Amino acid sequence: MMTLGYHPEWSEGAIKPPVFQTSTFVFPSAEQGKEFFAQAYGLAERDPARPPGLIYSRLNNPDLEILEERLNLWDRAEASAVFSCGMSAIATSLLALVRPGDGIAFARPIYGGTDELLRVILPDHGIATQSFPAGSDAESIAAACDGLVARGAPCRLILLETPANPTMVLTDIAAAAAVAHERGALCAVDNTFLGPLYQTPLAHGTDLVLYSATKYLGGHSDLLAGVALGGRELIDRIRLYRTIIGTMLDPHSAWLLLRSLETAKLRMTCARKNAQQVVPWLAAHPRVARVIFPGSSDDPRQQAIYRRQCSGPGAMIAFELADAGEAETFRFLDAVRLIKLAVSLGGNESLIEHPATMTHADVPPEEREAMGVGPALVRLSVGIEHPDDLIRDLDQALAAIDRPAETRSVEELTAVAATA
Ligand SMILES: Cc1ncc(COP(=O)(O)O)c(C=O)c1O
Repeated sequence: MMTLGYHPEWSEGAIKPPVFQTSTFVFPSAEQGKEFFAQAYGLAERDPARPPGLIYSRLNNPDLEILEERLNLWDRAEASAVFSCGMSAIATSLLALVRPGDGIAFARPIYGGTDELLRVILPDHGIATQSFPAGSDAESIAAACDGLVARGAPCRLILLETPANPTMVLTDIAAAAAVAHERGALCAVDNTFLGPLYQTPLAHGTDLVLYSATKYLGGHSDLLAGVALGGRELIDRIRLYRTIIGTMLDPHSAWLLLRSLETAKLRMTCARKNAQQVVPWLAAHPRVARVIFPGSSDDPRQQAIYRRQCSGPGAMIAFELADAGEAETFRFLDAVRLIKLAVSLGGNESLIEHPATMTHADVPPEEREAMGVGPALVRLSVGIEHPDDLIRDLDQALAAIDRPAETRSVEELTAVAATA
């Protein structure tokens, strides 16, 4: 992660890649400009021993190319493309791979933005979509695909997010990929929650891996980025759409991500160890009804999927407060101090949010409830703080649920006002 894909001798010996903050590149000659375009549009083979022919930063840029080479390594992918954010990686990939009249089957719940894309935007453009519950077995996934066929839209792609945002339910990647391949369809997995350290979907038969790199890959809550990884031919098809639609990452964010990748393993390991201390503490707390964390489920099917496809639980925790509606849950959320009340995840700092009214607010209420996203559900992204500090903060915030507002200290009330 510190040297791959970068040649200091091409950049005045700089130990780190510079930010190539440029829109365009000067061609050595017209003949070479012609050659570079032929390579970029797949009309001619590129010699891997020579520097890539640089044209224009919507097509290619050294920071993006070094970053893509390093990301390939994590997911053991042949090729990748980086995007301006996770949603542009998902939307550009889906647009490149399905056509009006085709169908997409997807596991639900899924990130609220992706849900809106699948439920509203793609159907507006003639693409049929059909959901199935996260955690479904092969038979139920196949039934969703058959449902699409019955509506006259052959299933071209199955999209999973596993663990599911926000309920942390795992879906069997190998089973979904097998169902897709039996039908000549593709399987795509949003690997944002566990990747790249704790889950490698390509090794379980999926064709495409997607990321919001805004989360663990970025890790510092200071950038937006997305990634699509897979076989070269597939990524080339997606890359062409990226070039024409203009959803590529900018050089500065690519440079920030290169910095972030150097510590991805350290950050994710530390956050995972913290989460493994927080989970049993939460599970034992009388104010907590249920904790959902990969590998800690009582359901033998969930445990079997965990053992098969995850090498660690990550640091995302979902939990439900006991005897709580929205008001009680908000009292708890308003009382956290060290942990910040904010959406997003995967940063060094711990973040907590209320999926029903925040990340998944755009999902129709009755569908949201049916997916297990109720008013007492909270999503916690555990960061790299000291675990004792995190537990202390959760402890005082849980105690605040039952304390009337009048007895709160001036400091507490000021913090609540500032959060509001
Ligand atoms: C699992 C998952 N996928 C995709 C996205 C979208 O990513 P971005 O916000 O970088 O567009 C998010 C955002 O929260 C997410 O949680």
